[in-house]
Amino acid sequence: MRYPWWRLLLFCCVASVPCYWLYLAAAAALGPDPGKVLVDNLGQGALFLLLCSMAMTPLRSLTGWSGWIAFRRQIGLWAFGYASLHLAAYLYFLLGLEFSDFAAELVERPYIAVGAIALMGLLTLAMTSTRWSMRKLGKRWKKLHRIVYPTLLVVLLHMLWVVRSDVGQWSLYATVAAILLAARVPAIERRLVRISAKWRDEQTAKKAENNG
Ligand code: HEM
Repeated sequence: MRYPWWRLLLFCCVASVPCYWLYLAAAAALGPDPGKVLVDNLGQGALFLLLCSMAMTPLRSLTGWSGWIAFRRQIGLWAFGYASLHLAAYLYFLLGLEFSDFAAELVERPYIAVGAIALMGLLTLAMTSTRWSMRKLGKRWKKLHRIVYPTLLVVLLHMLWVVRSDVGQWSLYATVAAILLAARVPAIERRLVRISAKWRDEQTAKKAENNG
């Protein structure tokens, strides 16, 4: 396994955030409706981690460092972990574990159904992220994992439905998502790789010139 200490550090950092939020909720430091704040924070955390995991490949293209890919799976799994906690917090704090209410909400509130579709997308990605699945699915693995793009769009739709007119934060996530999606268009990706390789070559030549 590559970069075990960095992976451990990443694990500790990402795992400690929900614990800190829970601590704040218990200490009555999350305002009058801590359950709702927890649901919102975990939802935004899941979206943030999903975007981070999707940034790893463009970062490799830009920097030429293949190490980014070593963290992609872990961050993607954490996105699913946060999304699952988001659902658990919603069921516990907002619905008081009334599962029949959840079934009614799925039918009555389209944004809940949209959230559930996004969670199914993340679940599919998480379940097929093992080496065994990669081997078993072969070339189909890459194709299957392209569902991360529609999943991201569904998450953005879910969030837009929640925030409605207050689109400040949503626009920021949507802009980052648009940049990441554009970076995966083959023609743009090739251009990025060319530009960054040229830039790195120039830097190496400059360094050699200064040293010599
Ligand atoms: C069955 C699945 C899901 C359910 C039931 C659900 C439920 C909810 C609810 C009830 C809210 C609004 C809470 C409030 O009143 O403020 C919300 C907001 C949100 N959810 Fe979900 N959600 C689901 C899946 C997801 C997934 C998979 C993601 C991301 C990967 C996600 C990201 C968000 C975000 C970003 C918000 C907005 C938070 C904010 O306004 O700050 N949700 N969700």
